[in-house]
Amino acid sequence: MNVIHFDVIDSTNTYLKNHFWELPHLTVVTAKHQISGRGRMGKSFIDDSTQLLFSILLKENIEHIQLFPLFAAKVIHELLLNYSIDAEIKWPNDILVNEKKLCGILTESVYLKRCEALIIGIGINVNTTVFPEEIKDIAISLKQLCSHDFSLENIFNEFIVTFEDKLSSFYSNPLSVVNYINQYSSLKDKYITYYTDGILQEGKVIEIAENGALHIISNQNHLYLNSGEIIKIQSKKSID
Ligand code: BTN
Repeated sequence: MNVIHFDVIDSTNTYLKNHFWELPHLTVVTAKHQISGRGRMGKSFIDDSTQLLFSILLKENIEHIQLFPLFAAKVIHELLLNYSIDAEIKWPNDILVNEKKLCGILTESVYLKRCEALIIGIGINVNTTVFPEEIKDIAISLKQLCSHDFSLENIFNEFIVTFEDKLSSFYSNPLSVVNYINQYSSLKDKYITYYTDGILQEGKVIEIAENGALHIISNQNHLYLNSGEIIKIQSKKSID
């Protein structure tokens, strides 16, 4: 992998979006601090340099666009298992522990005539102990889970070595990633309220489908969500 490091940057995803043309496939940009870190659904991703922040540029074999964030989530999940951390994967992009977010993934694509590049941005709460007020009840860090500091560099190195190593088996058998995500999915059999195309809807999750979409039943219809934000998760349908 071609690794570029910045002490301070606006956003590692934005950097790769702006420079994808001149950078090789599998370039990774890391930063100690992002001034305008971005999350999904237009939210910002605020850091205090205790998070691991990086983005990966993919330019070749990117036809399974929807499966790449799931592949990245699988690599992180396996890495956490090595630290004896039993996490869940919340479709499409979050890694949760004890129902709190440990890691977020923001995948973006660059289209000209076709999809030219895919950028997978990852933020992991590593040594964070103080979260912004608005996320303090829904976020968690490795340090909070294990009561010691972690080396950001070691986690980063483990991630990129495993990511590159497992990429060819992902290309040859993308379904194995879907099966893995289903095994550790926090949404299986849950009733969800989700926001898509500006409308709030409800449904019951069946599984992650082969193409990476979320298969749900809503008003007796089988639907496949490609994106959208899940607002509420319940294990049973509420009576009211
Ligand atoms: C989310 O939880 O909504 C996704 C968060 C993704 C944050 C990472 S940090 C590195 C990369 N650069 C960004 O601006 N965002 C991603």
